[in-house]
Amino acid sequence: MKRKIYLDNSATTPVAPEVLEAMMPYFAGAYGNASSLHSFGQEARRAIEEARAQIAEILGVDPKEIFFTSGATEADNLAIKGLALADPRRRHIITSQIEHHAVLHPCMWLEKQGYEITYLEVDQFGRVDPEAVRAAIRDDTLLVSVMAGNNEIGTLEPIEEIGRICREEGIPLHTDAVQAFGKVRLPMEAIDLLSVSAHKLNGPKGVGFLYVRKGLKLIPLLHGGGHERGLRSGTENTPGIVGLAAAARLAFSEMDEVAARLRDYRVRLIEEIGKIPGTRLNGHPTDSLPHIVNFSFAGIEGESLVMRLDEHGIAASTGSACSSPNLEPSHVLKAIKVPLAMAHGSLRISTGRSTKPEDIDALLSILPGVVEDLRAISPFKVGE
Ligand SMILES: Cc1ncc(COP(=O)(O)O)c(C=O)c1O
Repeated sequence: MKRKIYLDNSATTPVAPEVLEAMMPYFAGAYGNASSLHSFGQEARRAIEEARAQIAEILGVDPKEIFFTSGATEADNLAIKGLALADPRRRHIITSQIEHHAVLHPCMWLEKQGYEITYLEVDQFGRVDPEAVRAAIRDDTLLVSVMAGNNEIGTLEPIEEIGRICREEGIPLHTDAVQAFGKVRLPMEAIDLLSVSAHKLNGPKGVGFLYVRKGLKLIPLLHGGGHERGLRSGTENTPGIVGLAAAARLAFSEMDEVAARLRDYRVRLIEEIGKIPGTRLNGHPTDSLPHIVNFSFAGIEGESLVMRLDEHGIAASTGSACSSPNLEPSHVLKAIKVPLAMAHGSLRISTGRSTKPEDIDALLSILPGVVEDLRAISPFKVGE
């Protein structure tokens, strides 16, 4: 059978063997509840606190500032709604038009409760202008939430500058670092709240954390047994938390080497795919996460492209080009003003630590023919 090639690492990643190995003892052997007083419980507690300390060390923060969650959707919701509940007098939030729905939808929900949200525009590459953040800040601004790196087009945001402005104005900065954590260095001194998910960094699904700078008050969204120092009730996912820490350690230990390799793949993809007529690169050519690259092809549907590539054993994605049933193009591509006809023909390629040069060769040998075939049967003509 043909070898399958996985180029959809922004959607999720395989669990690395060393991460799986670290997790295994905590399923059936050391299965205690970390809240129990006996030795089973203490063993689980020790593992969780060790994981917390390891993550804190990687980020250069205090372990008390790390709160484990069920993933980044929960971490984003907790950061935004938890802060809103804690400071009900401040009813204005600043975010960007290209955030993940895990940030946009809590903001939209708060909007329905009477909050005002500023959705900042981005430039043609998807970058937020730090001065636009400054200009949007008001007396009642609660929070600025801007992602570290975009999950569809890869563009990196100027978090350090935005954080400096937020510090000057006394407003906390939340950043969704799901795609950036373990891929690029994060300016932690500029960040007050940070969301991370394990399954994007060769860890398990259903676990992540929220970093909360000491002194910031959040109201919990889940009430119960008072776990995670009262901020997130629910029996801790010990194997998941151990896996998250192992994945973080692995990612940071090899970050420079892996990022350099993925960056080389990205350069090659941009160079070669750019030769296909009627192609457009979405996102910044260089100021980008190393593992994500997004193209549009005139005259074809991204979905058909993904299905055809899948028939050739290659998994990539449209980058949620049509994320709703009425085939609306993605909010990210709309925000960077990709022409409508092109926004439907998008392809996101996202590489990972196990991507090989042969995988890139295989994609590059197949893609031009697939694009040509699809165009031949398309009712739209390139150039129309
Ligand atoms: C930027 C970003 N934020 C949040 C999420 C949601 O993370 P999780 O799957 O852990 O809830 C994702 C995953 O697609 C993402 O890419």
